[in-house]
Amino acid sequence: MAIITTTEMFKKAYEGGYAVGAFNVNNMEIVQGITEAAKEENAPLILQVSAGARKYAKHEYLLKLVEAAMADTGLSFALHLDHGADFEICKSCIDGGFSSVMIDGSHFPFEENIALTKKVVEYAHSKGCVVEGELGQLAGVEDDVNVADHSYTDPGQVQEFVEKTNVDSLAIAIGTSHGAYKFKPGQKPQLRFDILEEVARRLPGFPIVLHGASSVIPEFVETVNKYGGKMPDAIGIPEDMLRQAAKGAVCKINIDSDLRLAMTASIREHFSTHPADFDPRQYLSPARAAIKEMVKRKIVNVLGCAGKA
Ligand code: G3H
Ligand code: 13P
Ligand code: ZN
Repeated sequence: MAIITTTEMFKKAYEGGYAVGAFNVNNMEIVQGITEAAKEENAPLILQVSAGARKYAKHEYLLKLVEAAMADTGLSFALHLDHGADFEICKSCIDGGFSSVMIDGSHFPFEENIALTKKVVEYAHSKGCVVEGELGQLAGVEDDVNVADHSYTDPGQVQEFVEKTNVDSLAIAIGTSHGAYKFKPGQKPQLRFDILEEVARRLPGFPIVLHGASSVIPEFVETVNKYGGKMPDAIGIPEDMLRQAAKGAVCKINIDSDLRLAMTASIREHFSTHPADFDPRQYLSPARAAIKEMVKRKIVNVLGCAGKA
């Protein structure tokens, strides 16, 4: 078992009309829930770590947890830096055992984004790692930054960006957003499939990434609200839209909020029915099981990657 890059995964996903799930990890129970689901469904898997996760759990702990999960499941996973803000954090993850990094230069002017992404790609490729870049900006909350509106990807820029940077995959903005509030109350969820199709036409065979792609599963939101939570307007991307994207050029679908919700719903429910419990294992075991069931549902219903490990 080894930490692998996404190159083969994405090639097979593109040709097979499915996507690989990229799930954010922050602690042992999350790693176990996700990787046990991948094992049971024999699915390819990307585990991704944000700067916030590295700060919370520390790089070395997360790396060792992922290595332990590979030994336990007998599967190889990709280990990816999510939303790398600068060259230094990308280099630190590449040097520290990751197989893939995202350099998120999407908020920079086009030429600056190209220069930064190119610099990361050159270093990453020299070390056998792959790189995800981004064009266009998602709305939503990400690492304390709250972006009010989407700035959709301009398909006219994608070829030049990929050619000049030599990046391995590209995240685009088509109306998904980070966090649990992806559409305004009463607003009909929609994605710009026209942009996705135009990007795919201009980059044939090239793997596209969707961030902010949690469905904010309504059953979890209901449970959270039933047991004292306050998330009345939480709404995500409908599963059928993600499935449609996964059948086309989208090879990587990022999911974090649904993990958070699965865990939080389970823990809230647990305490309301077991108010005297105080052993963390009593409430973290069902939370881990809830993550596992949710990830299995994603693999089968949304990603379409069961049996493709
Ligand atoms: O896109 C952002 C991910 O959900 C990671 O969130 O930075 O709070 O760990 P975080
Ligand atoms: P969600 O907030 O929709 O789960 O998106 C996560 C993500 O894009 C991580 O990079
Ligand atoms: Zn993201």
